[in-house]
Amino acid sequence: YKRVTVKSLVEMKSNGEKISMLTAYDYTMAKIVDGAGIDVILVGDSASNVMAGHETTLPITLDQMIYHASSVIRAIDRALVVVDLPFGSYQSDPKEALRSAIRIMKESGGHAVKMEGGKEVKDSIKRILHAGIPVMGHLGLTPQSIYKFGTYTVRAKEEQEAKQLKDDALMLEKAGCFAIVLEKIPAKLAQEVAESVSIPVIGIGAGNGVDGQVLVTHDMLGMTHEFNPRFLRRYMNLYEEMTTAFTQYGEDVKSGDFPNDEEQY
Ligand code: KIV
Ligand code: NA
Repeated sequence: YKRVTVKSLVEMKSNGEKISMLTAYDYTMAKIVDGAGIDVILVGDSASNVMAGHETTLPITLDQMIYHASSVIRAIDRALVVVDLPFGSYQSDPKEALRSAIRIMKESGGHAVKMEGGKEVKDSIKRILHAGIPVMGHLGLTPQSIYKFGTYTVRAKEEQEAKQLKDDALMLEKAGCFAIVLEKIPAKLAQEVAESVSIPVIGIGAGNGVDGQVLVTHDMLGMTHEFNPRFLRRYMNLYEEMTTAFTQYGEDVKSGDFPNDEEQY
């Protein structure tokens, strides 16, 4: 396989080829996602919810993100691996942001970092980029600021917030980010942003006028079943299938059906 790089993603945008991205937090899942030819694997701080069961993304630590990312990296032959900088690892000042990004690159072997926010994090983004570390931006619904907004509803529906988002996207491009994630904003606004920048815009709940799509793998597999946003397309119903498998196994053990004669030494 030819490895996906930040440069090939920008080329994909100029060639009109859509970019596919999914999350992974462990070796086994990453191996399957990479083998299926998905372009970008995001070690998202959604691991805080999906892996650890926290209500928000805020509690996950830099050490925990590095653990997840290093597990993912060991599985990869082709995909570009982007690692979320977790809440608290980059907000206080650009030096701390750079230290955190360097730890991710050195200790996990990830290929790029992602951070939430626009002009508030501009100086940190520049500092990280100066060190040669590629940065992906993330605008719109930014779960690390959930307590500032109070809800997970659609963002930038009003003109002022939409204008700010457009300005932030242009700033991220100018600062040197290689791509931007847009989360849960009106499709029309997302398309306008994608048309206004030359770097790829990857959407989640941002419509089809952008340059690529990302979903949380556990959600699209239907392993989670309490999370039902409109943008989520479920490709499997693993919650039910796994429940059936576990129930059957439990019954087989109880009844003495498992193991049978061939399943022992
Ligand atoms: O952490 C995550 O999974 C993300 C995606 C939803 C973009 O940031
Ligand atoms: Na995230």
